[in-house]
This record gives sequence, structure tokens and C-alpha cells, in this order.
Amino acid sequence: MQIFHNLVRKRPCQVSPILAAKVLSQRPAGSSLSYTGLFPFPQTDGRGFFYPFFSSVPFIASFVLFLHPMGQKKLIRFEAIKSFPNVLQYPEGMPGKWAAFFKNENPLTLELACGKGEYTVSLARMHPDRNFIGIDLKGNRIYIGAKKCLEDKIGNAAFLRSHIDKILNYFAPGEVKEIWLTFPDPQLRLSRIRKRLTHPEFLRLYGQILVPGGRIRLKTDSPALYSFTKSVIGLYGLELLEDSQDVQTAIDTPASAGLENLPEEVIRELAIKTHYQGLDIAKSNRIYYCCFSLPANALPPIDDILHERCKQLELQTT
Ligand SMILES: C[S@@+](CC[C@H](N)C(=O)[O-])C[C@H]1O[C@@H](n2cnc3c(N)ncnc32)[C@H](O)[C@@H]1O
Repeated sequence: MQIFHNLVRKRPCQVSPILAAKVLSQRPAGSSLSYTGLFPFPQTDGRGFFYPFFSSVPFIASFVLFLHPMGQKKLIRFEAIKSFPNVLQYPEGMPGKWAAFFKNENPLTLELACGKGEYTVSLARMHPDRNFIGIDLKGNRIYIGAKKCLEDKIGNAAFLRSHIDKILNYFAPGEVKEIWLTFPDPQLRLSRIRKRLTHPEFLRLYGQILVPGGRIRLKTDSPALYSFTKSVIGLYGLELLEDSQDVQTAIDTPASAGLENLPEEVIRELAIKTHYQGLDIAKSNRIYYCCFSLPANALPPIDDILHERCKQLELQTT
């Protein structure tokens, strides 16, 4: 019963076929299964709120079969990336070794929260004289980008499966030239503020692996994450290098969006589309972009002031 509840509480993509099979095999002997609400629910006495239309086992079986291929696809992808030469999962001993991995000394760009790695793949195509690494927790998403690189023989891109919080385990000081943050989760709740990938705690990590003056580029559809990042830039005295509140207009008509000073190359890079970009989850109908660099010295310890300002702003807007 507990397993059954675990199953229905999970999103379909999190359900493994093994779990689904357990659900069916572990239901109480002799019990009939009936549909009594939003989810299938076993009833042992045959009484109560019963919908014969959805009756029992066939309904459960089709429910499980519906879920099964998704879980199976994930497992197949997890298995596949184990043998992909361009995917490293929680590797050890990599700081300072990326030049050896790529067999050249070319500058290194990271795409954090890369998902399916559209930026990693497209930037690697655009710049064969540079190296790119997409980082994400989710192996089944990384699989998409990594497979594309293998199929298209893109040798200057790789994928790293790990928590971004652990980034210092993988890169040596000054080993990274540039960081892209592509549509990271905006983490809108104030209690999640430290999870925002442009929070100073993350910036302090990036600062330890970036070359001096290394650029951080944020592309997002979340006005909240964009404003938060601009607040951080202002409060901590970071250098704002490029800025747009309407990337699509900047791409279509650069002069009208005030982006005429941007190098053409950056506009081409901004035109790369990602999976989440297409979803427009923030419903902002806008893409925001800013590029900044960190100061040579450590960021000042004023996170409490930042948090207080964000709290006040939230109080004003609710
Ligand atoms: C909103 S999706 C964006 C994916 C992709 N950049 C795109 O635009 O389609 C955010 C991604 O960040 C990843 N992610 C979130 N927090 C992470 C963390 N702490 N470490 C690694 N990946 C993380 C998630 O797995 C997810 O793939």
C-alpha cells in the first residue's frame, strides 16, 4: 500500500518500471482494485465509492503501461551514458585535467543547468577553437546533447553530471574562461534564494574557477531572476558588460533594442534556442539577458543585506 502511494505521488517521469511492477505484485492477495478518485486506489471490501466503468485490474494495468515506457526510456539513457566517452558522471581527479581531456589548451566555457545541452552543442559547433562542458544533474537530459555530439562528431564538447554546488571538485582555479547560465530554475520562493544560480554564494564558487575577468552570461525568461541578478550586480559592485530586456527584438532588429554595441557573435549566440526557452514557463513572453564579470577581490559578506532587500521587495509586491 505504501509503495502504491509512493507511485501515485511521483510525477510520471519519476516512476521506474521496477516500482510499477512492485505495485502490482505487492497488492494484497484477493483484493479487488477499483478506481475511486483521481488515482487508482485499492479497495479490499468491494463497497464504498466504486466506479465500475474504470474497473480494477485492466485500468491499473493500462495506467502502469502508460508510465512504463517513460521509466524504461530513462533507464536506457542512464545505461547508455555510462559508455559515452563525452559524459563524465561525478568524476574524480579532474581539476586541471581538462586540457588533457580535450587534447588541447583551448579556452573552456561551461553551460550550467544545461538540460539537453543546446548551448553546449551549438556553441561547440560555432567555435571549434574552444572547448565546452554542459553540467546538469539529470543524466537523461544530458544524454540528448551528448548523443548529438557523438553522432555529429563534435569533439570539443563534453558533459558533466553533477550538482553545480560541487563545481570546485571538478575545476582548478582559473581553468574556466566563461560561464553560461541558460534558463536556470528561478527559485522564486524567498526561502530558496540561495538556490538561485546567480546568488552570491554561487558567484563565489564561480569566482574560484574563472580566469580573472571571466564572463558570466545569464539568459532567462524569468523577470524575477533577471531583476534579482541585476540587484546582485549593483549591490556587490560587479561589472555589467551586456544587458537586454528583450533578446528576441535584439536578434531581429539589434539597433532598436539598444544592443547595437554587442558583438555580432554574441547576438548569434543569443539566437540559440533551448528546450525550456520554448516552454515559456514564466509566461513573460520575453527573454532577458545580462553578462557580467566578478571583481578581482572576494565578494563582500553582505548577503544578509541582499536577503533583507529581497524580503522588503516581496512584501511590497504582495
Ligand atoms: C529549467 S531547466 C533548464 C534546462 C536548459 N538549460 C534549457 O534551457 O532547456 C533547469 C535545469 O537545471 C538543472 N539543475 C537544477 N539545479 C541543479 C543543480 N544544483 N545542479 C545541477 N543541475 C541542476 C535541472 O536538472 C534542469 O535540467
